[in-house]
Amino acid sequence: MERKKVSIPGIEKAYAAGERLAMLTAYDYPSAAIADQAGIDIILIGDSLGMVIDGYDTTLSVTMEEIIYHTKAVVRAVEYGLVVSDMPFLSYQTGTRDAIHNAGRLLKEGGAEAVKLEGGKNMAEVIEAIVNADIPVMGHIGLTPQSIHRMGGYRVQGRDEKGRNALIRDAAAVEQAGAFAVVLEGIPGALAQEITSKLHIPTIGIGAGREVSGQVLVFHDLLGLSGDRQPTFVKQYAHLKEASIGAIQQYIREVKEGVFPGPEHTYK
Ligand code: KIV
Repeated sequence: MERKKVSIPGIEKAYAAGERLAMLTAYDYPSAAIADQAGIDIILIGDSLGMVIDGYDTTLSVTMEEIIYHTKAVVRAVEYGLVVSDMPFLSYQTGTRDAIHNAGRLLKEGGAEAVKLEGGKNMAEVIEAIVNADIPVMGHIGLTPQSIHRMGGYRVQGRDEKGRNALIRDAAAVEQAGAFAVVLEGIPGALAQEITSKLHIPTIGIGAGREVSGQVLVFHDLLGLSGDRQPTFVKQYAHLKEASIGAIQQYIREVKEGVFPGPEHTYK
């Protein structure tokens, strides 16, 4: 079936119609092709790539060059979903001029259609400046991995009254600044529901319960490629790590036993 490419107006229309949005990360051509062919609405080149595919403990070391490199690969595979690139740590916190320049690079050099950045009230001016340069921005509040050292670990946010109120203010500030959507990460379900009911833009949850406008997961977590110990919010829809190890063990056996390659894999 021929499907219409997802665009920012398309997201607004889907939200207005009460349609839930499905978002997934992808970092390279094959994962983006799989996500896109499955029909994912929004494909995120997340700075989680620093942890998921580079093996770092945090996302802080990810650079603009790395996000651009991975965005280019993803863009080459995507025909349907909206491509959103993460703004890495220190690519926007240093001021509006840097933020516009770096967000622009993600569109101009990477081929993304929108950018995502972490922060609420403290980043409202930056979001507004990028939006005014005609670059669509997705916000990201709650458990913001680039704030790992302030948070003292990857902890659920907004559990006490003060944190709750701050997040409600952050969500309003992100919307007011012109973001087209906002990720709510690692917050109690009731708070996510309250924020969602107050906003007029889609909320995309990850570890934020079900009463939001959409969900996002990391590609490798969804497919069970990340290992067995997963946070509560992850649902593994497949167990590809075990399946991959099994397949590779079979290959090793067949090579050692002289079974592979068979005649059908041999040129005449
Ligand atoms: O970097 C990332 O993958 C993200 C999503 C998990 C929201 O920010």
